[in-house]
Amino acid sequence: MKRLAVFVSGGGTNLQRIAEYFAPNQDVEIACVVSNNKDAYANQRAKNLGIPLLLVEKTYFTGDLFVERMKSLDIDLIVLAGFLWLIPQRLIEAFPNKIINIHPALLPKYGGKGFYGHHVHEAVVAAHEKESGITVHYVNEHYDSGNIIFQAKVALSETDTPDDVAAKIHVLEQENFPLVIEKLLLAK
Ligand code: GAR
Repeated sequence: MKRLAVFVSGGGTNLQRIAEYFAPNQDVEIACVVSNNKDAYANQRAKNLGIPLLLVEKTYFTGDLFVERMKSLDIDLIVLAGFLWLIPQRLIEAFPNKIINIHPALLPKYGGKGFYGHHVHEAVVAAHEKESGITVHYVNEHYDSGNIIFQAKVALSETDTPDDVAAKIHVLEQENFPLVIEKLLLAK
């Protein structure tokens, strides 16, 4: 059995997709959802999906107790799915090459602190980019700068609004993220 922890801060559409994709697979389970936002709709999704939810505040999240909790859950892969806090060094050291993030742009463009969710799509439209995409990458101690595992692109048209770009990115995420996770789990 491979065990995932999925970290969330927002709507949780990626969490939902990952959970549904692996539901028929007896060899993969989401052992817990970690949320840093008590108002995130992702929390409700976790409850609806019957996945244990761990709501964390900063002091706990950045301390040893949180690392111990993840270790005790025997997690094979930590998946950041719209999670907005920086990952503490001690967690990265405890899970080397076992923490991945999905970013809604073609890194290294439009990455780093402040570039999340809609801010990314607004910047992409403002720069008149002809394409955007998604990046799945390993997590290190800086925002959006770990080694890239996977990218997928989509063409943009001149009339695309940030909402249009978000919709295109959403499709790419839904199609690709569970497959990338599955591949990584098989390789472990
Ligand atoms: C996703 O588009 C994800 O790529 C992005 O937040 C969204 C979360 O949506 N992540 C970042 O911007 C990280 N820098 P969701 O909560 O519906 O899965």
